[in-house]
Amino acid sequence: MINERMLKALNEQVTEETYSAYLYQSMSAHFDFKGLKGFSHWMDMQTQEEMIHARKFYDYILERGGRVLLDTIQAPPHDFGTPLEIFSSALEHEEYITGKINDLVELAQEVKDHATFNFLQWFIGEQVEEEANAGEMVDKLTLIGDHPGSLYQIDKELSARAVPTPPAGE
Ligand code: FEO
Repeated sequence: MINERMLKALNEQVTEETYSAYLYQSMSAHFDFKGLKGFSHWMDMQTQEEMIHARKFYDYILERGGRVLLDTIQAPPHDFGTPLEIFSSALEHEEYITGKINDLVELAQEVKDHATFNFLQWFIGEQVEEEANAGEMVDKLTLIGDHPGSLYQIDKELSARAVPTPPAGE
């Protein structure tokens, strides 16, 4: 039977990942409203990825014989600034989520839950990718500044982001 503290923390992560989806969906809606369809699409794909993350925790809890207790999802922000400010917020959010994953890993070690420790390894790698993706966007947007032509070009490129698929074996 899974440790009670571990179970509670895993349930909290379902909420964190679902909130992440909600946050990126709100950013997607904002971009669409502003006519930046490619940016909106990128955030839409990110939303789907976050739901895959939430589902992985959800499925794992059930697999370990625990109860999934879905919690309140807070409202995301609705008012956003420039694309650079939005992606800076996204990067900050991913750094926060990395901290949460690290806390889970430390708890798994503390309660000697080797199975959960093993399960979390995928998320450690995933967070490196998540931070890199948001960081790359921050770098690009910093580089182009307020140049509308370049923003238009990036918007076109971002519309090519593929639909995320759950990792093999899911
Ligand atoms: Fe699920 Fe973007 O971390």
